[in-house]
Amino acid sequence: MTTLFDPIQMGDIALANRIVMAPLTRNRAIEGNKPGPLTVEYYRQRATAGLIVAEASPISPTAQGYLDTPGIWSAEQVTAWQAVTKAVHAEGGKIVLQLWHVGRISHTSLLPAGEVPVSSTDKVADASTFTSEGFIPVSKPRALRDDEIPALIEDYRKAARNAIAAGFDGVEIHAANTYLIEQFLRDSVNDRSGPYGGSIENRTRLLLEVTRAVAGEIGAGRTGIRLSPMTTFTAPLDSNPQALYGYVVEQLAPLGLAYLHVIEGETGGTRTPEGKPFDYAALHRAYPGVWMLNNGYDRDLALQTVADGKADLIAFGRPFISTPDLVRRLRDGAPLNELRADKLYGGGAEGYTDYPTLAG
Ligand code: PHB
Repeated sequence: MTTLFDPIQMGDIALANRIVMAPLTRNRAIEGNKPGPLTVEYYRQRATAGLIVAEASPISPTAQGYLDTPGIWSAEQVTAWQAVTKAVHAEGGKIVLQLWHVGRISHTSLLPAGEVPVSSTDKVADASTFTSEGFIPVSKPRALRDDEIPALIEDYRKAARNAIAAGFDGVEIHAANTYLIEQFLRDSVNDRSGPYGGSIENRTRLLLEVTRAVAGEIGAGRTGIRLSPMTTFTAPLDSNPQALYGYVVEQLAPLGLAYLHVIEGETGGTRTPEGKPFDYAALHRAYPGVWMLNNGYDRDLALQTVADGKADLIAFGRPFISTPDLVRRLRDGAPLNELRADKLYGGGAEGYTDYPTLAG
C-alpha cells in the first residue's frame, strides 16, 4: 500500500516523499523584488518536504499585484533565487517556482509608471491589495487586446527559462485563485469576444497556450499547473465549474505534465462550501498523471487520501509555515507548532524563520 512517506517520480523530478509545501505568499522580498537571505533560510528549513512549491512569483513587472513579492523576470532575481535553490538542494530537497500573473488584482502604485492592471476584462474586481499605503482597493484594469497575448505568453516562457537558470527543478503555472489565467477561464469575469472569450474552449485557450509555451521551453516533465475550481476569493464562480474544469483537465491530460495541483473548496477556507458541490474525483478519473490535492489537510486525512489512491501528493500550506519539520512530525504523529497569523504577510524573521523544530 502506498503511504504519504513513499517516494514518487513526478515527471522528470524524483521526490523523496509525497508531502508538498504549498506556494505561500509571505511578502518578504528585498529591494528589486528579490528573495533575500531570510528567504533562503526559510526554504532551507523546509527542505525535507518531498517538494517545495516556492511562493507565487510575478513573471514580469506588469504581473505584480502585491508589495514585496519576489519576481522571476530580471537577471538579479535569477541570481538571488539561485541561493534558495542551492540551499534546498544541499538538504536533499526539490523545489519548483510558481509562475504568477495577477491580472486585475493589482494597483497602479505597484506597476511600472503609467501602467494599469491588465485582464480579460476592464471590469474592476471587488478586492483589495496590499501596497505601501496598506490594504487598498485594486485599480480598474484594461482588457488585453488579442494582439497582446503573444507577448504575454512570451513573458511566461522567459520566466520558465529564468526559473531553470535559477536552479529550480521546474515550475508550477498559477492558474488558480482568480488571478489572470482564471480571469480568462471563468465566464464570471471574462466578457470578451474573439478567440479568448465566449465558449469554454476559447476561455481555456490562454491556459493551454501558456502551458505549451512553458512545457516547450523547459519540458512537460518539469511543468505543473495549479487550479481552484470552487474558490471565489476575488471573483464569482464560473456558471458551470464542473464543465469548465472538466474540459481543462481533459485538455491537459495528454500533455505529459509533471503534475496537476487542485485546491478543493475555498482556498484557505472550507473544503466543502455549502450548497456548492463539486466532483473532484471526476477530474481525477480524467487525468492519467500525478495528482496533487490541497486545502485544509491534516495528518489523518492526508494519510487516508493517499492510501485510498485519491491523490498521489498532498500539499500543506499553513502547517508548513508553522512547522518546518512537518514531514518528521507527520511521520511521528507529533503535534505541530502554533501558527502566528499576524506574521503571515511582510515583516522579518519573526513568524518566518523562527519556528522551532523538534530536537534530536
Ligand atoms: C495572497 O497574496 O493573498 C495570495 C497570493 C497568491 C494566491 C493566493 C493568495 O494564490
